[in-house]
Amino acid sequence: MPCSAAMAVVLLLLLCCALPQAGAVGVNWGTASSHPLPPSKVVAGLLKANNVTRVKLSDADPLALESLSGTGIGVVVGIPNEMLAGLNASRKAAESWVHDNVTRYISGNAGGGGARIEYVAVGDEPFLLSYGQRYTPYVIGAATNIQLALTGAKLASRVKVIVPCNEDAYHANTGLPSRGHFRPDLNRTMIQLLTFLSMHGSPFVVDIYPFLSVQQNKNFSMEMALFQPTLHPLTDGRHKYANIFDASIDTLVASLSSAGFSDMDVIVGKVGWPTDGGSNASEVNAQIFMKGLLGHLLSMSGTPLRPKSLPSDIYIFSLLDEDLRNLTYGNFERHWGIFTFDGQAKYNVDIGQGSRNLANAQNVDYLPTRWCVVNNNKDTSNVSSSALEACSVADCSALSNGGSCSNISWPGNISYAFNSYYQQHNQNPDSCDFGGMGLITTVDPSVDDCRFPVEIRTSSSSSLQGTFLPSWTAILAASICVSAWPYLLTVLA
Ligand SMILES: *[C@@H]1O[C@H](CO)[C@@H](O)[C@H](O)[C@H]1NC(C)=O
Ligand SMILES: *[C@@H]1O[C@H](CO)[C@@H](O)[C@H](O)[C@H]1NC(C)=O
Ligand SMILES: *[C@@H]1O[C@H](CO)[C@@H](O)[C@H](O)[C@H]1NC(C)=O
Ligand SMILES: *[C@@H]1O[C@H](CO)[C@@H](O)[C@H](O)[C@H]1NC(C)=O
Ligand SMILES: *[C@@H]1O[C@H](CO)[C@@H](O)[C@H](O)[C@H]1NC(C)=O
Ligand SMILES: *[C@@H]1O[C@H](CO)[C@@H](O)[C@H](O)[C@H]1NC(C)=O
Ligand SMILES: *[C@@H]1O[C@H](CO)[C@@H](O)[C@H](O)[C@H]1NC(C)=O
Ligand SMILES: *[C@@H]1O[C@H](CO)[C@@H](O)[C@H](O)[C@H]1NC(C)=O
Ligand SMILES: *[C@@H]1O[C@H](CO)[C@@H](O)[C@H](O)[C@H]1NC(C)=O
Ligand SMILES: *[C@@H]1O[C@H](CO)[C@@H](O)[C@H](O)[C@H]1NC(C)=O
Repeated sequence: MPCSAAMAVVLLLLLCCALPQAGAVGVNWGTASSHPLPPSKVVAGLLKANNVTRVKLSDADPLALESLSGTGIGVVVGIPNEMLAGLNASRKAAESWVHDNVTRYISGNAGGGGARIEYVAVGDEPFLLSYGQRYTPYVIGAATNIQLALTGAKLASRVKVIVPCNEDAYHANTGLPSRGHFRPDLNRTMIQLLTFLSMHGSPFVVDIYPFLSVQQNKNFSMEMALFQPTLHPLTDGRHKYANIFDASIDTLVASLSSAGFSDMDVIVGKVGWPTDGGSNASEVNAQIFMKGLLGHLLSMSGTPLRPKSLPSDIYIFSLLDEDLRNLTYGNFERHWGIFTFDGQAKYNVDIGQGSRNLANAQNVDYLPTRWCVVNNNKDTSNVSSSALEACSVADCSALSNGGSCSNISWPGNISYAFNSYYQQHNQNPDSCDFGGMGLITTVDPSVDDCRFPVEIRTSSSSSLQGTFLPSWTAILAASICVSAWPYLLTVLA
């Protein structure tokens, strides 16, 4: 080989190894929203404008995948837990799933027009302790069938199968990292999963939530959760843990070793900090956490058990707030976004855009600037039961203890509930009635940090958007209906 060619090879090797492994920060993009920001705006305005190179979807939304096509952004598509039983039972179902949700988008044209799908996530934390055995029996079968379908579609070299696990699969943060082991009830399933992953060169994917750990374990401080200097690190033999993230990763590393898979790659599928809906859930804390996390990854220092080799990829949780997320685990669940529901940055952090400020979504198409509030001129003695009803459907998570609207006084909090219901119903005048206690206003009722949102216009809201009925029109219409009743009754009799 001529000298120059050899040099070129060496250079190439150097180049590829110098690529920032830990710099590959991705984001989770979920769709549990009543009024989602259109996928084209998410991809152009948030992902591309901020140089985000990887994205993890909660499902395989066709519009999201079409918008991601041709961008070169690496994509994880997800299979919901509810589909695992069907995919375990039938290879044909798995083949259809791969054909409809992967092959179709990857193929694109030869010019690279397709979506760059890198992983299929089989289930979303299917072994979560609180699910019991609901999904566990189907996970390995479903993963195997999806793998066979990918192989059949000649995609196995490009697309890997993963199974995102919650850190409760290895009792993270309940003891010393070096004593880590998988949950005894998962023992057989976990060995099958690890065997499967290692056979196909797939990584172990874990979701880590220091926000929850600090509440569950009194041995951890907020400093350790937020990557701040601490006087009381966790001491484990000769190792010291100054942050909860490293302690969780190393508990996993020890668990993998004790199961006989000490070399397995680890990817973090979700990690983040919520900004509302609970104590310590704030934008200030979220920014400190994110900066600490990304700085830690960039330092390439690794963890005590895996020095200099941090997880090769992490996916931040989450890109956007989602107002339909399940609140079983807390009111903060709807506030994990770096961006608000409408794509406006809550704080600044480098997710790929470097030293620039985060770019916000552009040209967001909002409903008219109107809100629904309590009409103080009415008898409001019964207003609280109406608010409770509104909150059973709408998003009142900001009103909870520690939330951004927890301090606004009565009846401001009732107005918040009314408005949330009204916005979720696309500002339909009927949805601001509340037995005559609702009033539509064009004066923003927001107080300090308690923002009363105006929702995004979506295709499903277009039938209502044009018809602005001022509240008096609605009241007039209502009174006409009421006064017509005796007449109608007479006619019917
Ligand atoms: C998973 O699928 C296999 C193959 O069809 C079947 O034998 C098995 O019973 C299924 N598992 C469960 C828990 O239903
Ligand atoms: C994926 O494919 C399956 C099977 O064809 C289909 O039923 C499902 O709706 C698709 N999922 C998504 C999220 O598009
Ligand atoms: C907290 O630390 C003490 C002393 O090291 C230990 O005995 C205890 O098990 C720890 N608690 C938890 C929940 O890890
Ligand atoms: C499962 O249990 C056996 C015996 O108790 C143990 O040797 C093995 O390491 C356990 N496997 C995992 C994955 O924890
Ligand atoms: C979280 O916030 C509450 C209320 O502000 C505070 O009392 C508590 O100490 C905080 N939790 C931690 C772990 O610091
Ligand atoms: C929320 O999650 C809980 C626990 O997983 C589940 O029982 C409940 O059905 C879920 N609620 C909704 C509305 O999906
Ligand atoms: C982001 O992408 C733009 C356009 O591709 C490029 O000019 C810019 O240098 C990138 N910025 C960073 C910080 O990578
Ligand atoms: C308040 O609610 C109660 C029970 O639903 C009802 O009997 C009463 O008439 C209501 N009062 C007003 C002022 O609407
Ligand atoms: C609410 O008021 C209390 C007491 O004045 C204050 O400590 C707390 O920070 C306030 N919370 C919010 C979310 O504004
Ligand atoms: C509104 O505030 C009042 C007084 O603080 C409280 O009793 C009521 O439960 C709150 N209602 C809601 C929906 O938050």
